[in-house]
Amino acid sequence: MCGIIGVVSNKESNRLAELVVSCLNRLEYRGYDSVGVAALSSANLEVRKAKGTVEEVVRKKNIKELSGYAFLGHTRWATHGAPTDYNAHPHTDCSNNIAVIHNGTIRNFKELRDELQSLGHKFKSETDTEVIPHMMEEYIKRGMDTFQAFRSAVKSIQGSFAILAVVKGERRIFFAKRDNPLVIGLGDDKTFVASDIPSFLPYTRKVIVISDGELGYVTPNSVYIEDENDNPIDVTSRIKIIDWDASSASKEGYPHFMLKEIHESPIAVKDTISGLLSEIDKVSEIAEEIRESSRIIITAAGTSYHAGFYFSLLLSRKGYMSIPLIASEYHNFRAKKGDIVIAISQSGETLDVKMGIRKFKEEGAKIIALTNVIESDIARESDYKLYMRAGPEIGVAATKTFTSEIASLLFLYSLIEKESMSYLESAHETVRNVITETEGFAKKIGEELANKNNAYYLGRGLGVPLAMEGALKIKEIAYIHAEAYPAGESKHGPIALVENGFPIVFINDGELVDELEKNLQEMKARGGKTYSISVNKRLNFADTEILVNTDEKLSSLAIAPIIQLIAYYASVKRGYDPDKPRNLAKTVTVE
Ligand code: F6R
Repeated sequence: MCGIIGVVSNKESNRLAELVVSCLNRLEYRGYDSVGVAALSSANLEVRKAKGTVEEVVRKKNIKELSGYAFLGHTRWATHGAPTDYNAHPHTDCSNNIAVIHNGTIRNFKELRDELQSLGHKFKSETDTEVIPHMMEEYIKRGMDTFQAFRSAVKSIQGSFAILAVVKGERRIFFAKRDNPLVIGLGDDKTFVASDIPSFLPYTRKVIVISDGELGYVTPNSVYIEDENDNPIDVTSRIKIIDWDASSASKEGYPHFMLKEIHESPIAVKDTISGLLSEIDKVSEIAEEIRESSRIIITAAGTSYHAGFYFSLLLSRKGYMSIPLIASEYHNFRAKKGDIVIAISQSGETLDVKMGIRKFKEEGAKIIALTNVIESDIARESDYKLYMRAGPEIGVAATKTFTSEIASLLFLYSLIEKESMSYLESAHETVRNVITETEGFAKKIGEELANKNNAYYLGRGLGVPLAMEGALKIKEIAYIHAEAYPAGESKHGPIALVENGFPIVFINDGELVDELEKNLQEMKARGGKTYSISVNKRLNFADTEILVNTDEKLSSLAIAPIIQLIAYYASVKRGYDPDKPRNLAKTVTVE
């Protein structure tokens, strides 16, 4: 995920540079590892960019002194290529006539780059984005006009994107969107195109929201949009006036980052899968290493541990020697040559995970990192790096990154098992449909649980890590004491607490349903109030049930947003701020 902004004006001045910087400040929540600006003036196309925050880069590169009539601005969250000066956007073609910024991932960038390189194009970065200006340059060389070249470049790309491009000598900004957000803002003598409305809200309230598959260009006083079949669209009927104010800024109208991030899970999953597909050779090599290893140790903390535990169950069901290890307990395990350690950490910084991999590396194991932060400490210290590309997560409680971890691990598992990955093509749609269909029900359950002080989350098989995650979520943001157990274990002690009205949430992933039903009956017989989050098969006798249907291999991806929404609404009902749970930090860098 990245933040993008473009502005094109009737006038040429450095006031526009200041304006772009103010937009970038409001976009920084979308990415904060590097920043860049392209300024298009009658004399020049100038790009200034570097690793760092908006404030640092603006100062270091004197961005406010740039003058021009069109600007592009980008704040990056690395997905392909480390956060470095040269990987920062904008990217340009060989002759520095075209500048491009991009939010998303280009799945087929390797093939495109190989082809362009064979035609003599020289690349300056490791990013997927850089293929776009080179493709445009190539098409222009072959006789296309600049817009045709842009359109053809966009049509060659597979993956998700919001793209902006400028070409020297032209007073317009080209744009294209698929899956990543893009909005046009209509000012008096200037036009904006950006990742979100709040970025330009101080300057205009007149907006056009771009839909998937659309592309076109803006000039200071006009907008041209066409659909996927190159048919022009009536722009006037699409103009909307925004009546909310800039204070909800980066939350894009959501009351909390947590809710926004749960709603971003579908695109996070899509970017995760397309990112992994774009490096399929590397991921296949990792899968081979895992297959060949003597033992697979999975180390992680909190939510990431639950994703790791889930993966471990998948592997041990297939006969692999797989050991899930809570990161802070690394002292209790001795690795040896032939072992593979999989370190899962969305932040890539959790100290317990870091300490563990250092020890296991010394003991001879090979380390694979799965993180959301490119070139984070854990990624750098590992032999192999896998990135989930969920975009930055601001809410302290992990939501979309958990879903992306599960998606990454399913991808890896399918490669290890050499099974078809076609079921993953619809993974993001499953997540999207589940959120749309169940949010109202999850809210109702969350608000009921908000009146309780204790709860159990029970599951069987692959449902157990999801039950653990459900309990952790409601505990950490709604401060409801919740415990998770394998459902069969509940009668060996926990059931003693169950009395009239005690809430028990069953995670029913569609397997072992009869067994789960017996446990449910045991709870009901003691007065327990039972809820079921069910995939594909009903859990009979539950007092309240949310039932969703999907490919059985995607059941965990379907359950994840529901348990997060339940916790979110419980927290809000209790009057807490789910984005900032007490006593917790987003990144835990102490032992
Ligand atoms: C829970 C949560 C924490 C983290 C844990 C590990 O919502 O966010 O439990 O999952 O601190 O963090 P990472 O994945 O960054 O290593």
